[in-house]
Amino acid sequence: MLITKRVEFSASHVCRSPLLSDRENQELFGAAANPYGHGHNYAVEVTVEGNPDPVTGMVMDLKKLKDVIHREVVEVYDHRFLNHEVPPFDHIVPTAENIAIDVWQRLDLHLSKDGSRLHAVRIFETPDLYVDYFGGAA
Ligand code: NI
Repeated sequence: MLITKRVEFSASHVCRSPLLSDRENQELFGAAANPYGHGHNYAVEVTVEGNPDPVTGMVMDLKKLKDVIHREVVEVYDHRFLNHEVPPFDHIVPTAENIAIDVWQRLDLHLSKDGSRLHAVRIFETPDLYVDYFGGAA
């Protein structure tokens, strides 16, 4: 069984790769490469897989799930300029894809125990664009 918790945060970012020249960044990312940054209202959907506990009836303690996501993700990302304040985005482009990988790595150890397992991280950068990450090879 899968259970999904959704949270939101606001953050700004610059889409610019240090491995590319200024011109290449401009051609690839356009206005999103502007070094002053721009903001998004992100949504994160964290899906945990497991079987309902015979006593509690829950895949995992929902309060614990909420607390872990807030502590490990929302408090880290919310109202931050990702490129300057949230490693590894000082050297990795903070695309939705890379944010999904980072969120997975922040949550996996906390959620994959006691019979449950992190199944998916979905990052909405805008209401009509999202990425899904299932762990493993990026
Ligand atoms: Ni953007």
